[in-house]
Amino acid sequence: MWATEFVELDKSHHNRTSFDCGESELNTFLQTQALRHMQTGISRTMVLSGIHPLPDQKLPVCAFYSIAPSAISRETLPKNLAKKLPRYPIPIFLLAQLGVHREYHGQGLGKICLIHALRYLWQVNAHMRAYAIVVDCLTKAAENFYRKYGFEILCEHNGRTRMFLPMRMVGELFDE
Ligand SMILES: CC(C)(COP(=O)(O)OP(=O)(O)OC[C@H]1O[C@@H](n2cnc3c(N)ncnc32)[C@H](O)[C@@H]1OP(=O)(O)O)[C@@H](O)C(=O)NCCC(=O)NCCS
Repeated sequence: MWATEFVELDKSHHNRTSFDCGESELNTFLQTQALRHMQTGISRTMVLSGIHPLPDQKLPVCAFYSIAPSAISRETLPKNLAKKLPRYPIPIFLLAQLGVHREYHGQGLGKICLIHALRYLWQVNAHMRAYAIVVDCLTKAAENFYRKYGFEILCEHNGRTRMFLPMRMVGELFDE
């Protein structure tokens, strides 16, 4: 069982060390970097916790995601999209990290997490526009997961497959 709401990661309430999504890079990020990145103002991490406290009285993390503002150059976009855009950096939202604890894989939490992140970023977009949501996929499995929800391949970026979902498509999901 997991909580009903995503909340900002809080070290006094969340046990970070027990988190294991199967990707050590993501585990390490949550355990050692997410809070520091929030404090320095470069990303925000939201978590969905379990409901039963661990022996240290903190709640386990069932799933999390981290988001940050970023920019891409228009040359990385498909030509038909690029030609409508200016030559200076194009603002985007980076879905920098997203992971589900291994214990909960295959129960719909990845989808819940992604939809929450998309809705959150759609709300941010009402105040400060971005062109698209971008993810850098660690594995082929992650790529397949995001493809399911409409993300398309953009380019290779630092050895990862970079995928994107235009903001107007996110809008179609949430606007009535
Ligand atoms: C990728 C990940 C987030 C999926 O989480 P999950 O909770 O197991 O996924 P869900 O149960 O919500 O599945 C949602 C849908 O995606 C599909 N899916 C899940 N993992 C998939 C995969 N590896 N490949 C293709 N489809 C996948 C499911 O079949 C499901 O589709 P359905 O609704 O049609 O049945 C999880 O496996 C994970 O944390 N992996 C390690 C970290 C990672 O790779 N994160 C990605 C960012 S780089």
